[in-house]
Amino acid sequence: MAGIYIHIPFCKQACSYCDFHFSTTFEKYREEMINAICKEIEVEHGYLNDQLVETIYFGGGTPSLLTGEELSRILNTIKNNFETKNVEEITLEANPDDISPEKLASWKKNGINRLSIGLQSFDQYDLDWMNRAHNANESKAAVQLAHKFGFNTTIDLIYGLPNSSIEKLKRNLETAIELCPGHISAYCLTIEDKTALKTWVQKGKIKPVDEDEQAEQFNYLVRELASNGYIQYEISNFAKNNAYSKHNSNYWKGIHYLGIGPSAHSFNGNSRRWNISNNKKYVDLIQSNEKTYEIEKLSSKNQFNEYVMTGLRTIWGINLNKLSELNEINDAFEKELSHHLDEGLIMREGEVITLTEKGKLQADHIAASLFI
Ligand SMILES: C[S@@+](CC[C@H](N)C(=O)[O-])C[C@H]1O[C@@H](n2cnc3c(N)ncnc32)[C@H](O)[C@@H]1O
Ligand code: SF4
Repeated sequence: MAGIYIHIPFCKQACSYCDFHFSTTFEKYREEMINAICKEIEVEHGYLNDQLVETIYFGGGTPSLLTGEELSRILNTIKNNFETKNVEEITLEANPDDISPEKLASWKKNGINRLSIGLQSFDQYDLDWMNRAHNANESKAAVQLAHKFGFNTTIDLIYGLPNSSIEKLKRNLETAIELCPGHISAYCLTIEDKTALKTWVQKGKIKPVDEDEQAEQFNYLVRELASNGYIQYEISNFAKNNAYSKHNSNYWKGIHYLGIGPSAHSFNGNSRRWNISNNKKYVDLIQSNEKTYEIEKLSSKNQFNEYVMTGLRTIWGINLNKLSELNEINDAFEKELSHHLDEGLIMREGEVITLTEKGKLQADHIAASLFI
């Protein structure tokens, strides 16, 4: 089984915090970009080694900007080049301001069955500050309409913003829970280079929220979602009634995937590769039949460390037997493991190691300490 990710590198406007790859000049390049994406799918059809495709994910950027015809062209190209009879989940990231009865109908017609809706917050002050293209009223209407059309939904929220508080988070979560999405992704705001947010911080216009306050918000969020039936199956991801994201869970379980489009990443067990993060160069390379990616062969140490990094963030944890198949477990690893057990940061059940509630606050730090 394998997954296909398609990166749609266009947005209406730049959100103040975002460093994902996108450009705001959609109209000028849209046709060339769709042609290039379809051509890349055809050229790369061997990458997944004839494995059955189980999930397709349109991410971005803003894939909800595409027309039904454009989506259908991409999906038909996938169907003509890969074995897709077992596809169970087709997700599209949709911004609330793009969600309309017409678009929902066209997504349904194209077989899309899951929408990832980027709400971020229900507070108008936050949305303005983030420079989002939607307003607070559109958020609720978008989720309700998506449910009316029968879509599985997941919503994105960001916490730990400057000017945030537990009271504000409480209101946001109440509204989110009322809407009853099957899945919620909640991310702590990070300050990324080359964003408006970074400039504001550097100029002293904004004071970042300190780590303790972010941790307090994280703990509140986890408790609140748990008491409403959402299982935290990955640090930032919560699902109700088993509505786990199949596509993302597969990333964390080491299942192979092919990434198409500028900046998209791919993984086939032995190597990782990543496409160039420049729309014009990507299109030019595709048009001249040249390679669009850089590639890194993964040593057994790399694979060991990647499994620790991703596995530890999930409820499935890391399995010591699988680790020792990847690389010999050394003394330093054993020492760190028993230190974290003593500190109550991790738990061990048989050969499986998972993070405790306390450990989840330091997931990346704990993982890094276990690298070999
Ligand atoms: C790259 S966006 C793509 C989805 C879609 N364009 C949207 O904005 O809704 C995926 C998600 O990453 C999260 N994100 C992006 N930058 C972030 C940052 N600096 N800190 C925290 N979350 C961030 C947001 O929640 C966003 O919805
Ligand atoms: S958060 Fe989403 S809409 Fe905003 S700039 Fe990033 S990719 Fe585009």
